[in-house]
Amino acid sequence: MNKKWIGGLATAAAGVGIVSYLRSRKNGNGAAKDHWTTANMPDLTGKVIIVTGANSGIGYEAAKEFARKGAQTILACRSMDKAQAALAELRAEVPQAQAEIMELDLTSLASVRAFAEAFKAKYDKLDVLVNNAGIMMVPYGRTEDGFERQLGTNHLGHFALTGLLFDLLANTPGARVVNVSSGGHRFGEMDFANLMFEDGKGYSPMAAYGRSKLANLLFTYELQRRFEAMGVQAEALAAHPGVSETNLANHMVPDWAMPLARPLFSLMMQSAAMGALPTIRAAVDPQAVGGDYFGPDGTGEQRGYPVKVPSNDASHNVADAQKLWQMSEQLTGVSYAEAAEPV
Ligand SMILES: NC(=O)c1ccc[n+]([C@@H]2O[C@H](COP(=O)([O-])OP(=O)(O)OC[C@H]3O[C@@H](n4cnc5c(N)ncnc54)[C@H](OP(=O)(O)O)[C@@H]3O)[C@@H](O)[C@H]2O)c1
Repeated sequence: MNKKWIGGLATAAAGVGIVSYLRSRKNGNGAAKDHWTTANMPDLTGKVIIVTGANSGIGYEAAKEFARKGAQTILACRSMDKAQAALAELRAEVPQAQAEIMELDLTSLASVRAFAEAFKAKYDKLDVLVNNAGIMMVPYGRTEDGFERQLGTNHLGHFALTGLLFDLLANTPGARVVNVSSGGHRFGEMDFANLMFEDGKGYSPMAAYGRSKLANLLFTYELQRRFEAMGVQAEALAAHPGVSETNLANHMVPDWAMPLARPLFSLMMQSAAMGALPTIRAAVDPQAVGGDYFGPDGTGEQRGYPVKVPSNDASHNVADAQKLWQMSEQLTGVSYAEAAEPV
C-alpha cells in the first residue's frame, strides 16, 4: 500500500465519520421511539419540487418519495444519460410518478441560468427547491467561472439557482428551500480574504468541503432572515444525511481500491433511503419551520431517523452570513433584490 493511498483512505475515513460511527456502534444509536418516516409525509399532489443531483444517492431517494406522494418532481442533473437512467429506475419503482429530468450543471453559471429559464418557461410556481447536489473532498480545481470547485458546486451554484428562482418561490405560498449540508460543516472555516483558496493556497480537500458545507448553513439561516425581512411567505431549512452509502466518496478512493472499499462502506454506512429522510422531512413536514436543521437521531448524528439537530456557532454567525451573501451576489452576478422585484 503506497503512502498516497493510505493518505486517501485516512481522508475518506475522516470524511465519512468512520471513527464516530464506530463509536456510535459501540454505544448504540440511541434512536427515538417516535420515528419520523416516509409514512409521515403528507399528500403532495399539485406540488412542484426540484431536486438537484437527483440521479444518485440522497437526491434520488428524496425525489422518488416526493413523486410517490404525487408531487410533480423535477430531477435536475448534470448528466442527461445518468438522469435518463435514474428516471427509468424511478418510474419502475413508482409507475404513477409525475417526474421529469432537466439539465443543470452547478459548475457553470450559464447552465444554472439556462435551467432557471427553462424551468420558468414551463412552471409558474415552485413549492420546494432541494439544493442537494454536491461533491466531496475532491482535489483542487476550478469551475467554468473560476470558482474553487467545492464552494462553486456546493454553495455558489445553489446560491445562484435559488436567486434566479426567487420570484417563483416568493409567489408560491408556503414554499421551502432545503439546503443539504453535512456534519462536516463543523470542520469548515470562513476566510473571506481567501474564500476560494486562490491558486490552491491553503487548500485541503477537507477544509474546502467543510467550508462549502458551512456556507450551506450560513446561506440557509441568512435566507430565512431575508424571507422574514422581505415579508416573503417562504421558508429556508437545512438537512444532513449523517453517513449514508451513496456515490459521494467515489472520487476519494482510487478505482482499483473500490472493490475493497465498497463492502466496507456498506458495513459502516446507513442506506441512502435512510439518509434522505432528514431532507424529506425538512421539505414536507408541516411541523417544520424556517431555520430548522434536520439530521439523524443516532449518536454523533451518523445514522437514524430525522430530528431537529443543532449546527455549530460558526453557522449562526450573522456577520459571516451577510459577508458570504454579499460575496456570493458579487461572484455569481445574481441579485436577490432584483429577482424579487415584480415583473
Ligand atoms: N452521503 C453522505 O454520507 C453525506 C454526508 C453528508 C452530506 N452529504 C451531502 O448530501 C448531498 C448528496 O450527496 P450524496 O451523498 O447523495 O452523493 P452522490 O450519490 O454522489 O450524489 C451527488 C449528486 O450531485 C450531483 N452533482 C455533482 N456535481 C454536480 C454539478 N456540478 N451539477 C449538478 N449536479 C452535480 C451528482 O451528479 P453525478 O452523478 O453526475 O456526479 C449526483 O447526482 C451532498 O450535498 C453531500 O454533501 C452526504
